[in-house]
Amino acid sequence: MGPIKVGFLHSLLRKEEKLLISEFNKRRNVSLVMLDDRRLIFDLDEAAAAGPDVIIERCINHSRALHALRLYQSLGIPCVNNYRVSQTCGDKILTAVALKDHQVPQPELRIAFTEKAALQAIETLGYPVVLKPAVGSWGRLLSKINDRDAAETVLEHKTVLGSYHHSIFFIQKYVAKKGRDIRAFVVGDQCIAAIYRSSDHWITNTARGATATNCPVDNDLAEVCIRAARAVGGGLLAVDLFESENGLLVNEINYTMEFRNSIDTTGVNIPGRVVDYIISRAIRD
Ligand SMILES: Nc1ncnc2c1ncn2[C@@H]1O[C@H](COP(=O)(O)OP(=O)(O)O)[C@@H](O)[C@H]1O
Ligand SMILES: [Mg+2]
Repeated sequence: MGPIKVGFLHSLLRKEEKLLISEFNKRRNVSLVMLDDRRLIFDLDEAAAAGPDVIIERCINHSRALHALRLYQSLGIPCVNNYRVSQTCGDKILTAVALKDHQVPQPELRIAFTEKAALQAIETLGYPVVLKPAVGSWGRLLSKINDRDAAETVLEHKTVLGSYHHSIFFIQKYVAKKGRDIRAFVVGDQCIAAIYRSSDHWITNTARGATATNCPVDNDLAEVCIRAARAVGGGLLAVDLFESENGLLVNEINYTMEFRNSIDTTGVNIPGRVVDYIISRAIRD
């Protein structure tokens, strides 16, 4: 049998993609097929015969990732992460519902569709709250709202200046998290590594300057992360968690995981584990 054909769905190649490609290239039984989302043209009638045995999704743009995954899956090609997982994780509202359905602990939250309803929801939750776009990442356009004056201002700005997406209000209770949160990496049924992300700022994304240190994966953390990953359909997932007075709370789950700051920090070869998992998902005749 020939080598396993791995489709590498990507856009601009970031550090993560380069690390993954170099890991794939170390495997003798793999041939990598680059699928640049800027150049793809889909034909719904295209036959899958010569297609890859599995696809790894590494797009930057959420809509491109979602649609490309749906199209490739319609050709019968297994995709990691799959369309449904990506759709759920790419939308904080869908993630919250999935976590709720599987009794995974998360911060208290409300969803509203008008400025008035959002203000009412915020007042009921109590200050401070965090307002965030349902679809978005890297800590962008997040607002910590400490009082009613700020709530009214932010809601008005979003309504008047924002696009339609900004009138879907995803509101979470602010979790006093003592300067850090946890980012844990799940590969299939295992939580393979985790980091603390510490910052003086309340937003602790490493893309926003937070520092990463190793977070030992104990049973508690592994259990919550694996349950969270299963709740959204499983695969290769980065789970963000808060340490609260009531234990670990899952904040969000990322489906095109970024790990550049976590390899040396944790001592775990994350791209190596990802590549093993992708190979294990390949379908061969
Ligand atoms: N409810 C919250 N309470 C406290 N901190 C929060 C809350 N929501 C978000 N944050 C902070 O903002 C960061 C980014 O929020 P997150 O929901 O993960 O959005 P993004 O998709 O942009 O990463 C989190 O890692 C955390 O540090
Ligand atoms: Mg996050």
